Amino acid sequence: MAEPLRIAIAGLGTVGMGVLRLLAANGETLTKRAGRPIEVVAISARDRTRDRGADLGGYHWAADITTLSTRDDVDVVVELIGGANGPALTLARNSLANGRHFVTANKAMVALHGMALAEIAEAHGVAFKFEAAVAGGIPVVKGLREGAAANRIERISGILNGTCNFILSEMERSGADFAEVLGQAQARGFAEADPGFDIEGVDAAHKLAILAAIGFGARIDFDAVAVSGITEVGAADIAQAAALGFVIRLVGVADCDMQDEGAAKLLQRVRPCLVPKDHPLAHVTGPTNAVVVEGNFSGRLLFQGAGAGDGPTASSVVADLVDIARGDTGMPFSVPVAELESLAPADPGYRVGRDYLRFTVNDRPGVLAEITAAMRDADVSIESLIQQGRSAHGGEVLVAMVTHEGPERCVTKALELLEGSSSLTAPPLVLPILQD
Ligand SMILES: NC(=O)c1ccc[n+]([C@@H]2O[C@H](COP(=O)([O-])OP(=O)(O)OC[C@H]3O[C@@H](n4cnc5c(N)ncnc54)[C@H](OP(=O)(O)O)[C@@H]3O)[C@@H](O)[C@H]2O)c1
Repeated sequence: MAEPLRIAIAGLGTVGMGVLRLLAANGETLTKRAGRPIEVVAISARDRTRDRGADLGGYHWAADITTLSTRDDVDVVVELIGGANGPALTLARNSLANGRHFVTANKAMVALHGMALAEIAEAHGVAFKFEAAVAGGIPVVKGLREGAAANRIERISGILNGTCNFILSEMERSGADFAEVLGQAQARGFAEADPGFDIEGVDAAHKLAILAAIGFGARIDFDAVAVSGITEVGAADIAQAAALGFVIRLVGVADCDMQDEGAAKLLQRVRPCLVPKDHPLAHVTGPTNAVVVEGNFSGRLLFQGAGAGDGPTASSVVADLVDIARGDTGMPFSVPVAELESLAPADPGYRVGRDYLRFTVNDRPGVLAEITAAMRDADVSIESLIQQGRSAHGGEVLVAMVTHEGPERCVTKALELLEGSSSLTAPPLVLPILQD
């Protein structure tokens, strides 16, 4: 029997315990596939006395998590603590610098420090793997890096946050408003007590930045991801979108273009979008994640599955361990870090597309004329315009419109023209229509 791959697990919460369960349940199969056993030589977390619903007496408990990176009997450190900085980052740096392979599910850390960590891994000839950091159980990192390796990637678009997708698809099903559905999602365990990172789009942005780096051979540029979350999407928008043949989903989109003098530029955005009902992403409901990768020879590839949860996330963590056991310690971002390009952010103003715009306005004569005049003056062509019923007492009404295809800068200009207008009682909501 070949020597075992000896691992240490830092963090024994949802994912850490899932990894222990998976290794115990599928040990024999894993040994065959990996060519050698995967052996847990040490575990650690914050509180040893915490009941984790399993007997951990058979594992060696390391009282100090930092020691995992220096133990002679550890080949791989598996970090399942979380947090972009703090103990997770210290453990990552030390493990890689001490010549230990490193596996993590920590998207925030990879999005913010992935380049520096990949450099340390390269310098020490060890693996730095993070399949579980993007879309939980879906093997999209591997799919993009290896399965689609023959292609020039043209676009990556994805539903990358299960909490947002659960909320939006539940609003669609029930007709309820955002706040009510968020409460239900929290009660059912689909949203954290502090859901900020999810509903503001930051979590999806972390994942998009990682996928964009792999897909476009670029250095991760998390700060360049334009992010807007789902908090402003109302039940009325979802109903209006449905009437027009769309569903609303939080979608991360990354693509590359040649705007000036042939220099490639990268556009990365996470926004709620109107998705045509016949688009593959429109059928993704509940906490499911999905990623569409468009390659110049493969065409459209769809990766779909559970974006979170102990089992699915553990499945991705252990897949990375199997790779390492087989001797695959290859480059985390497909090419050496020094060969990744620093792509400047693309100017979205030149992008051509259609938008859904929703205005909350005072119900009084002349308001529609004011809005349509701003559209005309900014060269925005209106495809349809709907005033959603009159208010009973001359208060507020919603005006929704869909634009014809045009440059984004025109819509921006129209909104600038309307800025400060006493007709508008709230900032307008602009949702792009996802292009097919
Ligand atoms: N949950 C998912 O479905 C999911 C999906 C994809 C990716 N991820 C990622 O996986 C990672 C872990 O997530 P999780 O949901 O498993 O988190 P979790 O349930 O909150 O578990 C975190 C674990 O880290 C330990 N920990 C926290 N601070 C520590 C410290 N200073 N020193 C030592 N141990 C510490 C905790 O110890 P105690 O138990 O003793 O408090 C706990 O065992 C995160 O990066 C997350 O983004 C999670």
